[in-house]
Amino acid sequence: MNATDARKRIEWLVAEINRNDRLYYVEAKPVIPDAEYDRMYEELIALEREYPEFKDPNSPTVRVSGAPIDGFEQVRHDPPMKSLDKCYEKGDLLQFDAFLRREAPAGANWHYVVEPKIDGVSMSLLYEDRKLVRAATRGNGAVGDDVTQNVRTIRSIPKTLPADAPPLLEVRGEVYMTRDGFAKLNAALDEAGRDTFMNPRNACAGSLKLLDPKIVATRPLDMVVYNAGGSGCDGFATHTGMIAAFARWGFAVSPWLRTADTIEEAISYIDELGAMRHGFRFEIDGAVLKVDERALYGELGATSHSPRWARAYKYAPERAETVLKAITVQVGRSGVLTPVAELEPVELAGSVISRATLHNADQIASQDIRVGDHVWLVKAGDVIPAIDGVLKEKRTAKIVPYVFPSSCPVCGGAVVRLDGEVAARCVNPGCPAQLQRRLEHFAGRNALDITTLGGRIADILVEKGLVKDVLDLFSLDYVALQSLDVGEDGAPRKFGRNALNMRDAVAAARRLPLDRWLFAIGIPGVGQTVARDIAAEHEKFSDLLGSEVLKAVVANDARKGAERRILPIKVEAAKSVLAFFDSAYGAAFLERMRELGIDPRREERAPAPADGPLSGAGCVLTGALSLPRQEYAKLIEQAGGVVQSAVTSKTRYLIAGANTGATKTAKAKALGTEVIDETRLRQLLGLAEAPAPAVAKDYVQGSLF
Ligand code: IVH
Repeated sequence: MNATDARKRIEWLVAEINRNDRLYYVEAKPVIPDAEYDRMYEELIALEREYPEFKDPNSPTVRVSGAPIDGFEQVRHDPPMKSLDKCYEKGDLLQFDAFLRREAPAGANWHYVVEPKIDGVSMSLLYEDRKLVRAATRGNGAVGDDVTQNVRTIRSIPKTLPADAPPLLEVRGEVYMTRDGFAKLNAALDEAGRDTFMNPRNACAGSLKLLDPKIVATRPLDMVVYNAGGSGCDGFATHTGMIAAFARWGFAVSPWLRTADTIEEAISYIDELGAMRHGFRFEIDGAVLKVDERALYGELGATSHSPRWARAYKYAPERAETVLKAITVQVGRSGVLTPVAELEPVELAGSVISRATLHNADQIASQDIRVGDHVWLVKAGDVIPAIDGVLKEKRTAKIVPYVFPSSCPVCGGAVVRLDGEVAARCVNPGCPAQLQRRLEHFAGRNALDITTLGGRIADILVEKGLVKDVLDLFSLDYVALQSLDVGEDGAPRKFGRNALNMRDAVAAARRLPLDRWLFAIGIPGVGQTVARDIAAEHEKFSDLLGSEVLKAVVANDARKGAERRILPIKVEAAKSVLAFFDSAYGAAFLERMRELGIDPRREERAPAPADGPLSGAGCVLTGALSLPRQEYAKLIEQAGGVVQSAVTSKTRYLIAGANTGATKTAKAKALGTEVIDETRLRQLLGLAEAPAPAVAKDYVQGSLF
């Protein structure tokens, strides 16, 4: 291929991949097989490597390879990015209508548009020659930050526009994080011992401020476009016409939009949207009411803060006032102290609430929450109750500032806050509270499956000093344990027969395979699937001490570029397991196992049927599925497949359940993995169709989109 051909081919590939990204990520209507997409992607990577001079700054490959930057340049917005006037009462909306009647030119006629007010970060996108050249945050409205590199990683944003789009175009909209993406991101940050975000909006803003686009690329961000920018939007008579054009040009637009002839009709749509607002994939903090006829915008004008042709209506937050009776501090399995608010029971959004999370010491301090205070209770993300402010005017002199315990409330041991962590931890490895939770985990159904050992029995065994380490279960006198009092609230009750059942379950646990034991120990970062991956690479438990395989995973991670291989074990997990066995506790644990004569083995799985429908196929399950993951894992194995915890070059299928992040699927595709949905998996497994998931649908107005 000569240079001219290479340039042409690169251009064609960029256009074709961008077109298919749009079909896949914005319209959810892929038209080519995944393998075909992957082939083009690989070809583009290879050609760009050979001809770097022809690499397009908007190439789809940039999304995963942008270099970190030093800081953000400033961008001046022309015209400024204004805000919206807010109102909270229906009466305010009627007044808005009256205001328009007064201000609009005589004889003018208009319609209303109702849209969700998405809680994210407002953003301007600039296209020159139909190519994305700049993305900027709102900032103070006049000047914002140039976050182009970060925004390029967002798949639902078109990088190039079709020929019928204006050559110079600026559009404005909202970058947001879905609720589900937010929950997953926080879970991952939490697992890694890092600070979590308060809500999806903070997570979105925080992600856009990162200096390394590679990390941004892993954040589940999306964008909808809802407003004209300074260029290319003048020709539209109506807002709805403009939005329809944005949609045609490949932008994601609001999934719900209604037009109304009268303010009364508009208000009824605002109510309708309010009733369904918790069913959207993203958080909505209100509705936006706009005049549809853009010709009136100039006539109506704007204040320095906001246009006169629109209003934001904020839904009444679902909140209730109550009294904080006490703050209890719970100690988790890894020693993390979690403060919990004990409240005067109160009804909130349909349920009676008496406890709420306070997250951590910082949250209590920043809101100055004190025992005895009257507080506002809200449903955070409308699911978990949280305290949202103190009614300081009701505070009496007796109410003193809350002091977070400086020692563990259970064992009195030292509490430390590790660098960069919000969480305070009890670092006493002998802390009974930690031991109780570890014991409960150790006996859990997916761990050693000692079902008679629930939370309460774990508490009693530790309290009575019968168990000082989880392995003590293997030397308990279960016959004597029959007379243990396990009654509650002063009513005595004997453990009885259950003690013998527990003995049998403990005996059976000796023979459980390596992965179950590894999970049972509760090493940070070692969940069930990770434990299975690690177990698959080791013969027996005692091989984990100083494991060469785990060391190789860590060493491989330190390699650069092409030298780095994709290994089936996560590096954090490998480090964590090595550290466990290196610790004094790990060494003692191993020694005790030796004394007990327990050395769990790798499970020799029944040989996968060689002629099964998934024979030899590596499969990774992700997202929300209608059956528990373990069930699908079993079915896949019965069909000859191999379940993996993360996508590697050996993964044939990524089974993407509801709400799977686009980054995950894109990464999988780049590695040659086919991305399939649950329906397709069920077809491959020869199962009936899954029941429809019980989530509210985002509404799409047929005529427009
Ligand atoms: S129109 C001149 N439409 O709300 C500003 N804004 O509180 C016109 N927002 O800064 C904005 N959803 O970030 C508009 N459907 C929507 C919106 C929306 C969210 C944000 C936007 C704006 C803020 C004002």
